[in-house]
Amino acid sequence: MSMQEDSIVLAVLADIPDGGAYEWRADEQGMVSVLIARLGEQVFAYRNSCPHQGRPLGLGRSGPGGGQKFFFDKQQRLVCPHHGATFEIETGRSPSGPCQGGGLTPVAVRLVEGKVYLAENLETPKY
Ligand code: FES
Repeated sequence: MSMQEDSIVLAVLADIPDGGAYEWRADEQGMVSVLIARLGEQVFAYRNSCPHQGRPLGLGRSGPGGGQKFFFDKQQRLVCPHHGATFEIETGRSPSGPCQGGGLTPVAVRLVEGKVYLAENLETPKY
């Protein structure tokens, strides 16, 4: 499955807490899940998958639209809730934990008039 860029709104900026993240999910199986993190008026999007074991980086599930809860440390780094890998929001790089030296897979997005649009064709990962 492929999703066409520029037609899909992943999030509304006002719905993403500053210093936090929002999950967008394409289907109920969670096969395509993207986390959109916000720092002020900037957004950074990544595949919602920990490089360590491929697990989602948030917890919980609230339906087809996504809605996982994400966790951050005092340096505003995303923390994987499973084994504690940390990730810099701006770069996706992991400075500590099981993924140290690795990083998240970025997803291209475009912020236009307060809406975060998908800016690449997102293929469903093959498991
Ligand atoms: S699954 Fe994320 S740190 Fe292991």
